[in-house]
Amino acid sequence: MNQELNPRIVGAAPAGAQDRESASAAVREMFTSIAPRYDLLNHVLSFNIDRLWWRRTARSFDAILKRPNARVLDLCCGTGDMTFALRRRANSGAPQIPPQIVGADFSHAMLQRAAAKGKGTTLRPPQWVEADALRLPFPDGYFHLVTSAFGFRNLADYDAGLREIARVLAPGGECGILDFGEPGGLIGQCYRVYFKKVLPAIGTVLSGVRGPYAYLPASVERFPSPDEMLSRMHQSGFREVSFTPYTFGVAGLYRGVKNA
Ligand SMILES: C[S@@+](CC[C@H](N)C(=O)[O-])C[C@H]1O[C@@H](n2cnc3c(N)ncnc32)[C@H](O)[C@@H]1O
Repeated sequence: MNQELNPRIVGAAPAGAQDRESASAAVREMFTSIAPRYDLLNHVLSFNIDRLWWRRTARSFDAILKRPNARVLDLCCGTGDMTFALRRRANSGAPQIPPQIVGADFSHAMLQRAAAKGKGTTLRPPQWVEADALRLPFPDGYFHLVTSAFGFRNLADYDAGLREIARVLAPGGECGILDFGEPGGLIGQCYRVYFKKVLPAIGTVLSGVRGPYAYLPASVERFPSPDEMLSRMHQSGFREVSFTPYTFGVAGLYRGVKNA
């Protein structure tokens, strides 16, 4: 585990990872291995609520998405559902110059699926870029909005990820990180049984791959609490940081504005 080697680095630690590089490589292999069935599994295992979460997140950034010539990055875009939700939102309402929307991910197999899904529409297609979220190939201050849905939690170093997001954002630009949470109370108890026992079992059968769906609940458990995450965002150069729970806290949106 990377934390055993360097306890100051907080990030994803898939089984067998020794350091930041091997953790990243294990995550990339894992997502590449489930790419063919990723969408199906997502919708089955979340009872399609994931669609509402992507839409709600996109809607909450209307002010930027409706701005002419806005530049938007969806990080860890996978097969592109968050990216497409942003694009739909940007194109709803009065016609305007649509924003430039970029989806970035380091799994080639995921991006291939995203690109295939984007064909056959008249809307300006997103650009798909194969890139590591910890080393983005974009200039400083380029984007007005950076989102990440269920991807940030998989980064091998959360602080480095936040700093890289801050680097590519223009001053005053916004960041939105949508990810799973751990609901409390009775709902939380029932949800934990589903998330830790039922979901890994179904995920393993449907994907035919064992590791990823055991890793998912473990990675959510390791993820910083909302308070800690907001403090990390603050330290990485964001102000007006906030957390909005979705669906009893099963998921939630972290937001922040890049300091001037
Ligand atoms: C759970 S999927 C989420 C995909 C999509 N955003 C969604 O909402 O369905 C996580 C994605 O993050 C990507 N990812 C994880 N770590 C990454 C990194 N360091 N750089 C780029 N992509 C990464 C994976 O390849 C995977 O496609």
